Amino acid sequence: MALRGSGSGRGERQSSAPGRTVDHLPPSIMDGMTETPRATMPERVVRADRRASILGAIGQTPLLRIRLFERDAPGVTVFGKAEFLNAGGSVKDRAALRMIEDGEASGALTHDRIILDSTSGNTGIAYALVGAALGYRVRLVMPTNVSDERKTTIAAYGAEIVYSDAQEGSDGAIRVARALYEEAPDTYFMPDQYNNDGNWKAHYDGTGAEIWEQTNGQVTHFVAGLGTSGTFVGVTRRLRDERADVVCVSVQPEDPWHGLEGMKHMPTAIVPGIYDAALADDNLWAPTEASYELAAELAEHEGVMVGHSSGAALWGVREVARRIGHGVVVTVLADGGGRYLSGGLYGRRWQ
Ligand SMILES: Cc1ncc(COP(=O)(O)O)c(C=O)c1O
Repeated sequence: MALRGSGSGRGERQSSAPGRTVDHLPPSIMDGMTETPRATMPERVVRADRRASILGAIGQTPLLRIRLFERDAPGVTVFGKAEFLNAGGSVKDRAALRMIEDGEASGALTHDRIILDSTSGNTGIAYALVGAALGYRVRLVMPTNVSDERKTTIAAYGAEIVYSDAQEGSDGAIRVARALYEEAPDTYFMPDQYNNDGNWKAHYDGTGAEIWEQTNGQVTHFVAGLGTSGTFVGVTRRLRDERADVVCVSVQPEDPWHGLEGMKHMPTAIVPGIYDAALADDNLWAPTEASYELAAELAEHEGVMVGHSSGAALWGVREVARRIGHGVVVTVLADGGGRYLSGGLYGRRWQ
C-alpha cells in the first residue's frame, strides 16, 4: 500500500513562497506555448508557467510501505518517502526549489546573476534542473570523484561544473565555492544550502507536512540520514509541532571515510549552520557495507531501487524497529539506485 496525500496534487506542492497561489484558471498546455522572453514576462505569466512546468513534479511524493523488517519486528509498520520520484530524482529538489524561490522573492536572485553553490551531486542536479526550467545560469563546485552519472546529468541541464580536490570531499567544495563568491559577489546568487533556512523549511512545509498527512497523524518515529541536515531538521520540527512526542532519530556514517554519498560524518565535517544536534532523540552510526546491502535487498525483494544513503537510513530503521517492537516508522528514500550503477552498488548481483 502506498499512501499519497489526500489533499493537494503534485502541482500544488510544498513551497510557501509568496505568490504561490496564482490564477483562477488551471494551468493549461498553452502556457508552455506562449513563449515570451523571460526577462519581459509579466510576473503573473511567469508563475503560471511554473505550475505547468517540470517544477510541478517536485514534492507530494508517495509514501511506500516497506516490508523488509516485518519478520524482525512484526509490530512495526515501516514507510519510506519516495523522494527519488521528484522531478530531478532526489529529495534535494525540494530544497533547491525553495532556496531559489526565496532568493527571487527577496530580490537577491535576478536573471543577471549566476546561481553558485557547492554540492556533492543531488543538490547540483536539482539546481541545474530548476535553473534550466526558470532560465538561470548555474555554476556548481563538486569534488572530482563524484559519480559520472551525476556529472553527466548536471551537464545535460546546461550547468557548469568547477572541480575541487577529491581528497577534501564536500568540505573542499564548500571552500572553493566560497572563494569564487568572495572574488565576485555581484556575479552570483549563492544559496549556500548548509546555512540557508529555506533548505530545512522546504521539509517543514513539504516533506514533514506530507508525512503527517499521509500517515493520518499516526507516525510515531522518524528516521533520516544527515547531509546538510535540512531533511532531518525540517521534518523533525514539523512533526514535533504536530505532536510533541514523535521520536526522531538521525543517522550518520559510522566513520569519516564512508562510501555513503550525500551523507555527512558530523564529528569530522564542517558542521552546517542549519544543523541542530539537540533535535535528535538519538543518533545512529550506519556502517557502509550493511547500508549497501540493505539498499540492494530493497530493490531485490520490494522492487524499490534506492541509493546508498537510503540503505543507511534503512539500517537505522531496522535498529529502531528492533528496539521499539511497536510503532509506525517513517524514513526518507533520498534518491534512486540508478544514480550509482557505475559505482557498483548493484553490480555484484549479476557478476
Ligand atoms: C543521496 C542523499 N541522501 C541524503 C542526503 C541528506 O539530505 P540533507 O542534505 O537534507 O540532510 C543527501 C543530501 O545531499 C543526499 O544527496
